[in-house]
Amino acid sequence: MSLIPIVYYSQHAALHKVAEPVTEFNEALAKLIQDMYETMYDADGCGLAAPQIGIAKRIAVVDISEEKNKPFCIINPEIIERSGSEMMSAGCLSVPGTYTTTPRATHVKVRTQDETGKFFEIEAEGVLAHCLQHEIDHLFGKLNIDYLSPLKKNMSLKKMEKFLKRSQQ
Ligand code: NI
Repeated sequence: MSLIPIVYYSQHAALHKVAEPVTEFNEALAKLIQDMYETMYDADGCGLAAPQIGIAKRIAVVDISEEKNKPFCIINPEIIERSGSEMMSAGCLSVPGTYTTTPRATHVKVRTQDETGKFFEIEAEGVLAHCLQHEIDHLFGKLNIDYLSPLKKNMSLKKMEKFLKRSQQ
């Protein structure tokens, strides 16, 4: 397995466009998913979408468990039901050093494929529902700061720049 560098806001086109559906469920995909698990854990994240490592494909990995031992992947996911709404504050590995409050459904049902191409459904609420919405947004080129007004978004991007400068020193 190997770590893959995470790209930050405006650093890579893949982050900001609609990702392509996955059509081949092969060895290369299985390896990519293993690398994404490793990269997510290394970055201390609870989710990572392929566009965040510069790959414009509809793949994301998630693990919201405390022990970080329940990873799963979603491929070509689609939200088929949503209900409720609340404001949720969350960070994003592609906008480090910031937290953003965005409107999220409290309950979602997601239809998706696994790494072998098999379809399954996930019914989620709470943290998992928020996380799934965040990762699926990534697959459509949308980051949580894209929900903000231009002024607030600029402030977040400045915070990110400062954070990145500090972490390079
Ligand atoms: Ni994110």
